[in-house]
Amino acid sequence: MRTEIKKLGEEGFGVAKVGKKKIYVPFTAVGDIVEIKKWHREKKKLVAHDYDIIEFSPLRVEPKCKYFGKCGGCVLQHLPYEEQIKFKGEKLEKILGFHIEVLPSPKIYGHRNRIDVVISTRGIGFRRRGTWWNVVEIERCEVFGDKSERALKALREFMEDFNLEPWDLEKSKGFMRYIVMREGKFTGEFMVNLVTNDGFLPEEVLEYFDFADSIYWSINSSKSDVSYGEPKKFWGSEFIREKLDDVVYLIHPNSFFQTNSYQAVTLVKKVAEFAEGEKVLDLYSGVGTFGIYLAKRGFKVEGIEINPFAVEMAKKNAEINNVDARFYVGEDKDVENLKEYDTLIVDPPRAGLHPKLTQKILKDKPETIVYVSCNPKTLSKNLEELKRIYKIEETIGLDMFPHTPHIEVVTKLKLNV
Ligand SMILES: C[S@@+](CC[C@H](N)C(=O)[O-])C[C@H]1O[C@@H](n2cnc3c(N)ncnc32)[C@H](O)[C@@H]1O
Repeated sequence: MRTEIKKLGEEGFGVAKVGKKKIYVPFTAVGDIVEIKKWHREKKKLVAHDYDIIEFSPLRVEPKCKYFGKCGGCVLQHLPYEEQIKFKGEKLEKILGFHIEVLPSPKIYGHRNRIDVVISTRGIGFRRRGTWWNVVEIERCEVFGDKSERALKALREFMEDFNLEPWDLEKSKGFMRYIVMREGKFTGEFMVNLVTNDGFLPEEVLEYFDFADSIYWSINSSKSDVSYGEPKKFWGSEFIREKLDDVVYLIHPNSFFQTNSYQAVTLVKKVAEFAEGEKVLDLYSGVGTFGIYLAKRGFKVEGIEINPFAVEMAKKNAEINNVDARFYVGEDKDVENLKEYDTLIVDPPRAGLHPKLTQKILKDKPETIVYVSCNPKTLSKNLEELKRIYKIEETIGLDMFPHTPHIEVVTKLKLNV
């Protein structure tokens, strides 16, 4: 069936109408003419998996990455960056119901400070879009940058020289499972985490990755296909550092960090600009990214976070920056006395605010809320609830994830009563 792509869906796939069916076609642009042969159900949507692009839209640009169209990582590289920003703005407007400016990322290649590369019997690379078992072999990743190429070359040589077996994703057996790379974009520091099954990793790994500041060996002997494990050994530095503006953050293989360092600078500055008063609660504080930045600007900060390791990292981050921010292990639903704070910062996981937290906010009425969201749908739902006593003062979109359909939103709410 031949048809023209007239718009993109929320996931960035072209929407094709075939009879009464709506079929999503990956890696297409508005104006492409496609011939769809086969499709299947992915979650709740019909997605084409066998199709030809008969005529290319004039909108398209040449993707920088040679794996575009196979790798599931970047689905929008064929669109000019302005078009990506326009798409994200329209998506936000549709979900939130009002116009929102989207700030483009300062860099759109080499901006990611982390990639998790699968080591498998099917190849070393990223998953083929729409599959968990199939891997697109890669030599470098353009959104991470040059060090990915060096590290992947070193990995292949190391595995070949020592006859190290890759992981079989279907049979759940083998030794080498993941190589996770982290890079402090403002410090140049580089970390490699090799995640393996139980077994023996030759010490010579050091020679192959002599350009890394930190090399970790982590064990994941479970069937669960995750790119982290229990650190068994490390060589070089225990942490690498990233610097956002004037704040230094430590990065450990098992700790989260905002993945686009360049745009993370804009993000922390925006949060600081929106915060008011003296006393701030950074809820869902993670490694303290916002709290420490704000403490450095003179706010009195407390942070609450469910993950004890993240709290440990946040405390370390506070210490190395010489700021008096306090971080505690705790859960959103249990926070008390929100009225003590002038500003409440929330950066919840994709599910949004816990309903008990929303109730407490409505009862305690902190004057200012800064809501950082990675999921506009749950943000929209939470804003509807909070709008009973808050007014939205400002909302801004930040493109933290160029070439993907994802978008971060920061909203400032002021008490209305
Ligand atoms: C989007 S991240 C926020 C990251 C943080 N702003 C940072 O930059 O490090 C969401 C955080 O919420 C934490 N979290 C998840 N469920 C939670 C809960 N029920 N109560 C408190 N924190 C929770 C996660 O561990 C994670 O660190």
